[in-house]
Parts: sequence; structure tokens; C-alpha cells
Amino acid sequence: MSDLGKRIAQAADIVTVALDELLPRADGPESRLTEAMRYAALGPGKRLRPFFALETGKMFDLPERPVLRAACALECIHAYSLVHDDLPAMDDDDMRRGRPTVHVQYDEATAILAGDALQTAAFEIMAHPDTHDDGHVRSELVRKLAIASGARGMCGGQMIDLLGVRDDLGAVARMQRLKTGALIAFAFEIPLIIGRAKEAERAALMGFAQDLGLAYQIVDDILDAEGDVALLGKAAGGKDAVKGKANYVTLLGLEAAKERVELLAAQTKAHLDIFGDRADHLRDSVDFVLDRRN
Ligand code: IPE
Ligand code: IPE
Ligand code: MG
Ligand code: MG
Ligand code: MG
Repeated sequence: MSDLGKRIAQAADIVTVALDELLPRADGPESRLTEAMRYAALGPGKRLRPFFALETGKMFDLPERPVLRAACALECIHAYSLVHDDLPAMDDDDMRRGRPTVHVQYDEATAILAGDALQTAAFEIMAHPDTHDDGHVRSELVRKLAIASGARGMCGGQMIDLLGVRDDLGAVARMQRLKTGALIAFAFEIPLIIGRAKEAERAALMGFAQDLGLAYQIVDDILDAEGDVALLGKAAGGKDAVKGKANYVTLLGLEAAKERVELLAAQTKAHLDIFGDRADHLRDSVDFVLDRRN
């Protein structure tokens, strides 16, 4: 495994252990809910958003604990977004991360509740004094996570996705920015907020995050069209196109979508110039996550 591959795997382990401690357990009948939450959040995902937060935290020499807790909160939101995204009323998928989706493994009502409770768990973790001793920092983390998750972020993007906006690249780009870009960008907001970063650093990292998020979703769309279901662990075979969803591949075609990712990769890394060598790991991670097969 490459050095970067090891760093990503190591970060994933740290996050999984932390999430395991943070997520509730229960003895009574509500244990069905806490088990479903744990099934969704602790399953074999890549934990890429937390990896970005932790890696950027290291670049700024920040202590690990606040960044890790905030990254766990973000991962709870991500896990909830996937549980709801897979529901019959949304993408109606029965496989995720190589296993049955939550509504298949449990049932639809349990999946809805598990998503709801993962969302509130995220804010409980973020707002807890253990996350940061400065209440202003905590409230800024909570506020920005709420924006990234809600109508002006992921949920807004999911609405546009479901409406199936067609043949307009600008509209698809906006949908992507909301549905995927906002949560990826929040991974970089975490160290910016905790480290009280300078404006120039903020602008550079936010530019980086935006381009990375866009490239990430285009790769997701390419994998939807031509990915290997066994490797991907979720539906493929052009499912988006079959459902009449507009995305980069349905609009541009596969080859042009791939060219766009190449162009974006270079553009994405250029945002990191102001950090010099300190950003080498982030720079390398761009190719790594864009060359992914799952
Ligand atoms: C999948 O996210 C949904 C998108 C926003 C493209 P990931 O590719 O990060 O999925 P996991 O967490 O590794 O399963
Ligand atoms: C979903 O996008 C992004 C979310 C906000 C969950 P997709 O619907 O393309 O994600 P996958 O392909 O099911 O992971
Ligand atoms: Mg979807
Ligand atoms: Mg989906
Ligand atoms: Mg997809």
C-alpha cells in the first residue's frame, strides 16, 4: 500500500474507533434504533471527509481531539445522508458499502429514524464541551455544519437531484455543489474554524475544497456509469441515467467527463500553492481519491 493509502487507512481506523465510542448504545427496545445507527455509521466506508479534516488539522499543527470529534460529527451527517439517499422514496438502492442498505437490513421506518438520530447525534457531539473549550468555536462549528447539511447544502442538493434537472450543466454543477460539495467543504472548515485561520488560508482551502468536491462527484457519476459493482459496493450500471437523472456523465458523455476530472485535478492542487510543502499530503490525496475504484 502507498504511504498515502496507509495514512488514509490509519485515519479511517481512528475515526471508526472514535465513532464507536461516541454513538449511543441501548438495552431496551430502542436498541433496534441504535444498532441501525451503528450499522450505518460504522460500516466499511472510506471516511474520506474525516481524513481531509484530520490531514488539514495536521498541516495547521492543531491538536487532534477537537478536529477528530468534529470530523466524527461530520461523518454522522454523511452516514445519515446515505441512509436516506438509499430509501425507496429517494434512490431506492439495496446495496451500500457491499452490504444491504439500512432499510433492507432493518425496515424503512427504522432507516428513517436511524438517519434522523444520526443527524441529531452529529450536533450533540459537535456541541459537547469536549469538542472545544471555547463556546464560540463550538457554535461556529455547529452553525456551519447545519448550513452544509440543510436546505442551502446537502438537503437542497438532494431535492434538486430528485427533481431530475436536465440538459443544463450549470444546474448540475449547482446541484453537485450543494449535495456533495457542501459536506466535503465542511471537512476543511473544521480546521479553519478550530485553527482560527487567516483569510488567505481560508480562501485557498475553500477553493481547493470546491474543486475537489466537484471532481469527487464527477468521479462518482463515472463510477455509476462504468464502475464494478463488486468493487464499488453499491449500484452501478448507469443507474442514474436509467432513472432519468442528469449528471456530468449523462450530460457530457463518459470521455468528456473524464477529461473534466483531469483538468479539475490540476486546478484543485493549484489552490494549495500558498501552503508550499506543508500541503504535500493534501496534494497527493487529490489523485488518490480521484483515481478511486470504490
Ligand atoms: C458517497 O460518498 C456519496 C457521494 C457523495 C458521492 P462516499 O464515496 O464518501 O461514500 P463512503 O462513505 O465511502 O461509503
Ligand atoms: C448522494 O449522491 C449524495 C448524498 C448527499 C448522499 P448519490 O446518490 O450519487 O450517491 P450514491 O451514488 O448513492 O453513493
Ligand atoms: Mg442520490
Ligand atoms: Mg444514491
Ligand atoms: Mg452516485
